[in-house]
Amino acid sequence: MLLPVIMAGGTGSRLWPLSRELYPKQFICLHGEHSMLQETVNRLSGIEARAPMVICNEEHRFLVAEQLRQINKLSHNIILEPVGRNTAPAIALAALNAVEQGDDPVLLVLAADHVIEDRAAFHHAIKTATAYAKQGKLVTFGIVPTGPETGYGYIQRGEALPGEEDAPYAVQRFVEKPNLKTAEQYLESGEYYWNSGMFMFRAKRYLQELEKYRPDILEACRLAMANVKEGNDFISIDKDDFIACPDESVDYAVMEQTDSAVVVPLAAGWSDVGSWSALWEVNDKDAHGNSLKGDTFLHNTKNCYINSEDQLVAAIGVEDLVIVNTKDAVLVARKDQVQDVKRVVEFLKGEC
Ligand code: GDD
Ligand code: MG
Repeated sequence: MLLPVIMAGGTGSRLWPLSRELYPKQFICLHGEHSMLQETVNRLSGIEARAPMVICNEEHRFLVAEQLRQINKLSHNIILEPVGRNTAPAIALAALNAVEQGDDPVLLVLAADHVIEDRAAFHHAIKTATAYAKQGKLVTFGIVPTGPETGYGYIQRGEALPGEEDAPYAVQRFVEKPNLKTAEQYLESGEYYWNSGMFMFRAKRYLQELEKYRPDILEACRLAMANVKEGNDFISIDKDDFIACPDESVDYAVMEQTDSAVVVPLAAGWSDVGSWSALWEVNDKDAHGNSLKGDTFLHNTKNCYINSEDQLVAAIGVEDLVIVNTKDAVLVARKDQVQDVKRVVEFLKGEC
């Protein structure tokens, strides 16, 4: 049966000041009544799958366990990373853990911070993908693009695979986060999808490809897995072992290299909510295009995202702004410049 693997170790720095190191965006209710992690788990109901495995930073272990408990999905499969080493090692730890149980399940690798509006379309794509993952393909879900986004990676499709009407395409190539001009050309060509960062493959197949292209990562993860401490629902990776592991995304380490990648198109109201403007896009808005949360007073204000934790925010005569008010910080930014919010986080960390 399908094993969902949820990657929940990111920092979400572009959603500062709500998303913090101790409480990153995947654990916050940004869209709907549940946290993004809880939404990710709930979205799987109706699919025949095992209890999900979650991989996160050890700092967040109680947060993850509590959030799963709240939705009655307490998992005994929470892998704790002492440091973040990006997604290629995170998936390797999950795959090694699954294979150790004497098994070779199909892994459905999901990010913990996505919004997907059309659950039925998502489930249909999973069904299509499963058949190809079982045959040894490394499946990626390609989002049918709705604009020239520069915050996403892109996938160029090749030939359609023989078979069903909605059979996947071979992958021609991956391009990680292009500039605006290139993204516009991609959109116009009709040959490109956004890389959703969701994947499906057999555990052993992933490990085989990782061995081929990044044996150093596999070796480091094997060593780390050989030394784990298990107990109390958590699988703890040792810091001394894992710190030596190279930091690399699954996109660079495997998906861009492998000859077995295929792309299943997905048009399901997907967003990775990577920025305040992306959140504004997916949220409900008032008649003037404002997305509001908390106590607000508006006059002559259009197309703004305003979120206040505990104080009244009054906005007068402004347009296209993001205003986020928390107990200890306030963000005011133009909606078209919110990608730079991560600079505040770099500044706070003393990196610039
Ligand atoms: N466990 C674990 N450990 N999870 C991680 C780590 C890690 O070290 N680093 C990131 N993650 C999780 C994040 O929490 C998120 O759920 C997912 O992996 C993807 O990481 P991001 O850091 O959010 O990546 P990105 O958004 O910049 O880029 C990726 O996703 C885009 C779509 O959302 C790439 O795959 C892009 O090509 C893609 O378009
Ligand atoms: Mg992301």
